[in-house]
Amino acid sequence: MYNFDKIVNRKNTNCYKWDSLTAKYEGVDDIIPMGIADMDFEVCTEIEQAFKERIKHPVYGYSLDVNKELAPIIYDRYKKKGYDIKLDDIVIGTGVVYIINLIIRTFTKVGDKIVLPTPYYTPFGTVIENNDRIILPCKMKLVDGIYKMDLESIENQIDEKTTMFIFCNPHNPTGRIFDEEEMLEVVDFCQRHNLLIISDEIHSDFTLTKSFQPIININEFAKNNTFTVSSCTKTYNLAGLKVAFCFISNPQLRELYSKAAKHTGLGSVNVFGIEAIKATYLKGQQWEKEMLEYIKENRDYVLDFFAEKLPNIKVNPSEGTYVLWIDFTKSGKNVEEIQNILINECKVELNDGRIYGGYVGFGRMNIALPRCCLIEACDRIYSVFK
Ligand SMILES: Cc1ncc(COP(=O)(O)O)c(C=O)c1O
Repeated sequence: MYNFDKIVNRKNTNCYKWDSLTAKYEGVDDIIPMGIADMDFEVCTEIEQAFKERIKHPVYGYSLDVNKELAPIIYDRYKKKGYDIKLDDIVIGTGVVYIINLIIRTFTKVGDKIVLPTPYYTPFGTVIENNDRIILPCKMKLVDGIYKMDLESIENQIDEKTTMFIFCNPHNPTGRIFDEEEMLEVVDFCQRHNLLIISDEIHSDFTLTKSFQPIININEFAKNNTFTVSSCTKTYNLAGLKVAFCFISNPQLRELYSKAAKHTGLGSVNVFGIEAIKATYLKGQQWEKEMLEYIKENRDYVLDFFAEKLPNIKVNPSEGTYVLWIDFTKSGKNVEEIQNILINECKVELNDGRIYGGYVGFGRMNIALPRCCLIEACDRIYSVFK
């Protein structure tokens, strides 16, 4: 049994989650950070062991063809998850966001519009805009408390400059795992408008309440027009290692991507990233299973807590991911002030809903932390919002 209750002191390790608090919130001490999406859990012993083994050799030079070594391991893992891929479809890279950035730069032009369902994972918006492309927001609608795509709402905004769709499943920040039927609608929409699809599936191991299906399995169009991006880093808490991969089934797209990756140096990864993929996918299953159980219990704790004690604050019942999307707009407090209240009065940091496409009065809570800290955070919120 792994111990997810253990409190790991991450302060003074140059970690964003804990070590940015002082500068961001001067004068406010003792904040529980539940913002940026990494976990406060120790990595599994198998990974630690793999790194120790690698360290025994004192040279960390350039690696030989990483794809050759890692692709079969990734292939086995994703085949088991039901992905309709071939070994050759896999390309390794330095982080999901870097890969997405490169895809946007390679396959769209300056001034192109990229469809982005909102709320959205902040870096999607940043990479679109930093590359002088335009976000075409597609606001998801709440149907019986569940976030659904609303593609009709943007139908008349699509023009010849609209060239790409960024899909994220499981969805950050809402935690949705999209059904086959919903994915078919997305794929049909993209086919009708001739859009390439980026599908960020980095959270696909976090199947909390239902199973997950990759979008490439939907049909031939999806398979031939999708870049599926994923990594082991979210599941195994290794975000700082910067390693990821992409599945590109269409050989023409893959060739263009690989050429661009080579030109920018994005085609190789650091030696510990290599060890990480091997150790996680070959030896990490037990840790992953127990971690998922722990996250599910954390999720249920928060949902039950708010439903019972703070029913005016709506916690979205996430189906996947380890983040919870929370609506404070009916909490009775000034919506503009929610983040200030959370920081200064509750001393709990959530990511502000504004950074997900302008959701004032919303927050995203990262629940990958020891239960006692989660309970303390909920109690603190209760004491101020009750
Ligand atoms: C949807 C999504 N994509 C990508 C990332 C980050 O991936 P990377 O660190 O490999 O760029 C995250 C991290 O939270 C995420 O939630």
